[in-house]
Amino acid sequence: MVIKTNEPSLELDLIDLANLFGQHNLEIEHEMQKTSGKVQNSFTVKNNDNGEIQSFSFSYDLDENLSELEKKSIVKKMVKNHLYQILSKLLKMSLPWGSLTGVRPTKLARDMIEKGQAKEYLVAEALEKGFYVSEDKAKLVANILKNQKCIIRNDNLVDLYINIPLCPTRCLYCSFISHQISALKENAIDEYLDCLEKELNEVKKIVADKAYIIRTVYIGGGTPSVLDEKRLARLLNMVSFAVDEFTVECGRADTITEEKLEIMKSHGVSRISINPQTFCQATLKRIGRPVTNNQVIEAYSKALEKGFVVNMDFIAGLPGERKAIFKKTMQMALELYPHNITVHTLSVKKGAELKWQQEILSEKDVEAMVSLAETMLAENGYKPYYLYRQKNQLKGLENVGYFRDEHVCIFNIDSMEETNTIIGVGAGAMSKRVFNIEKKIERQHNDKFLNDYCQKIDKIIEDKRAFFK
Ligand SMILES: C[S@@+](CC[C@H](N)C(=O)[O-])C[C@H]1O[C@@H](n2cnc3c(N)ncnc32)[C@H](O)[C@@H]1O
Ligand code: SF4
Repeated sequence: MVIKTNEPSLELDLIDLANLFGQHNLEIEHEMQKTSGKVQNSFTVKNNDNGEIQSFSFSYDLDENLSELEKKSIVKKMVKNHLYQILSKLLKMSLPWGSLTGVRPTKLARDMIEKGQAKEYLVAEALEKGFYVSEDKAKLVANILKNQKCIIRNDNLVDLYINIPLCPTRCLYCSFISHQISALKENAIDEYLDCLEKELNEVKKIVADKAYIIRTVYIGGGTPSVLDEKRLARLLNMVSFAVDEFTVECGRADTITEEKLEIMKSHGVSRISINPQTFCQATLKRIGRPVTNNQVIEAYSKALEKGFVVNMDFIAGLPGERKAIFKKTMQMALELYPHNITVHTLSVKKGAELKWQQEILSEKDVEAMVSLAETMLAENGYKPYYLYRQKNQLKGLENVGYFRDEHVCIFNIDSMEETNTIIGVGAGAMSKRVFNIEKKIERQHNDKFLNDYCQKIDKIIEDKRAFFK
């Protein structure tokens, strides 16, 4: 689809929304006219397959007393809604998330409640009516908000994220920046740990100066558990905070040893992730992830013995998988009964698209897989507690984290809902300062690649000090 608009600030939103409808041979021209208190959106849609041209026009009133920011947000919402109405009518299809293109639908719903635009018990209806969100997804959002009671909006209560962008090998589908360790020069990992130590020393000063209380620590990546025992212990020694929750991503079961679990336990780690992604060995081979189900089960039972809370990640829509295979994976997951299960929808990387085109499922099937997981998990006592969307996910679907009993991961909620400041440390980490009273968020990114991060560490530390002033 080709989209042109006379409002350049809206172009990307319109393109994002149109892309969610898939590939169609349409050319769309949008024109917005604003006269005092009135806005008109006109669209001309040309179908290049049959030459047909159709025109659509919508107008609405805009309250002149609103702030510029509020007006901008209404104008954006309306134009997306209008484009959604046209495309769903012409292509005879609806999207699960309606006209929403953003990453955080639950945050949007919370904002609507906090601004008095929707009552808590009517938030699902507000999403359906205001953004054409499907009934199922709107209910899912409402349900998730109920399960986020651990949120404490307090500018002094912060989370610490440490990024370890290292992996044993690269999985073909992966959309994260991470280095295969065998491709790094010999002392690169120790150099990286030296730099992390420097940055963490600065963080300790910031925490003391600002009287911050660190509520959770999350060491993610990548695969932090790929560090050998000595280096893992060195890393954990740098993180000497008493916290409510301490998570280490150990996604690849083949990196987990009894000794590493011991080291984590003795350093106060409370949660780990062991991620099968799928229990189908043929798929694992196809996606370049040389881990066996036995390795997952063994690592998981050792982790349970040591008393860790365990999360498992899965992906719906992996190339070559049909609903029956996915169902089997979910059944196995439920037999293992981890404390958390996170179900991702495949996000198709650019470049991967061509290679896997033949094997990637129809979007309708992926939607069915995602709802199957939701139903099976609910039947087994799991509840959804956080949700986010990524770019290029099949049919604009989402990732959902589920918990059983009381085992929500506070860090996941805080980072997706943007309710608390996050201090990000390491290559590719982002720091986010949340000002709850002023209702604003400031962000700062560290360099993405290991080399750049290590070379620029002194400047990164200086910038961090200024950012948290
Ligand atoms: C940052 S990754 C780290 C996980 C860990 N290294 C592992 O492989 O188990 C977190 C999760 O994102 C998900 N993920 C990665 N690439 C994805 C993609 N292209 N589409 C959907 N989910 C993806 C996977 O489920 C993965 O476990
Ligand atoms: S091990 Fe995890 S982070 Fe690394 S490439 Fe695979 S999915 Fe991505």
